[in-house]
Amino acid sequence: MNLVLLGPPGGGKGTQAKRLMDKYGLVQLSTGDMLRAAVASGSEVGKKAKAVMDAGQLVTDDIVIGIIQDRLKQPDTKSGVIFDGFPRTVAQAEALDAMLKSMNLTMGHAIEIRVPDEFLIERITGRFTCAKCGAGYHDKYQKPKKDGVCDSCGGTEFTRRADDNAETVKKRLDAYHAQTAPLLPYYEKQGILKVVDGTQDIGKVTADLAAILG
Ligand code: AP5
Ligand code: MG
Repeated sequence: MNLVLLGPPGGGKGTQAKRLMDKYGLVQLSTGDMLRAAVASGSEVGKKAKAVMDAGQLVTDDIVIGIIQDRLKQPDTKSGVIFDGFPRTVAQAEALDAMLKSMNLTMGHAIEIRVPDEFLIERITGRFTCAKCGAGYHDKYQKPKKDGVCDSCGGTEFTRRADDNAETVKKRLDAYHAQTAPLLPYYEKQGILKVVDGTQDIGKVTADLAAILG
């Protein structure tokens, strides 16, 4: 089973993808995470992507399509993929459909995690991540059980993303509405679009997603 999680920056795509991975034996492919890893490693792709990401704009279709194309060649994706943050333009969605077709695979569900803009700045500016294992947290909505210690791995160092400031979030939201929202009618036409209410608490959103996935 392959599925796409759609939704605005801070909507909960990464949080939910991590919760669904174990339950359904799927692999999470987050182009945002892959691009941040490329930036950290100083690769050619990372050098091209850094300024664009810091400005809250979208990296070119060629770059992200290339990253996904390479990643889908790895055997762990055979059991099914949760696409998180990809596709983000109609051109990316068309390229993904062509890739899946050439591999005799299909997209099972495109699920919009719907969250109005007014929730998102607080979600994003409160987000932090374990530097060791990548587990995600929030200052108010998802605190570690023990202050300063990661629930998953016991790590004690946390990071915040360079693009998680109020000014850049506004630009990321503009990009979402202008370039990514057209994917909703794209998948609706294919008959695979579903919507969940992403303003509910984290566990309830997971339950609604699980009800769709079965
Ligand atoms: P990316 O990393 O994909 O960022 P994004 O889409 O802006 O989404 P976020 O990761 O910010 O949000 P999320 O939905 O994962 O929310 P999360 O679960 O963390 O992309 C970053 C940049 O990379 C882009 O701007 C672009 O430059 C580039 N890029 C990436 N992919 C690209 C592509 N395909 N094409 C072109 N460029 C690309 O949740 C947020 C916080 O809220 C967390 O702290 C969490 O704990 C909390 N939270 C989650 N759910 C709830 C809830 N239900 N209630 C309360 N709090 C909650
Ligand atoms: Mg994310």
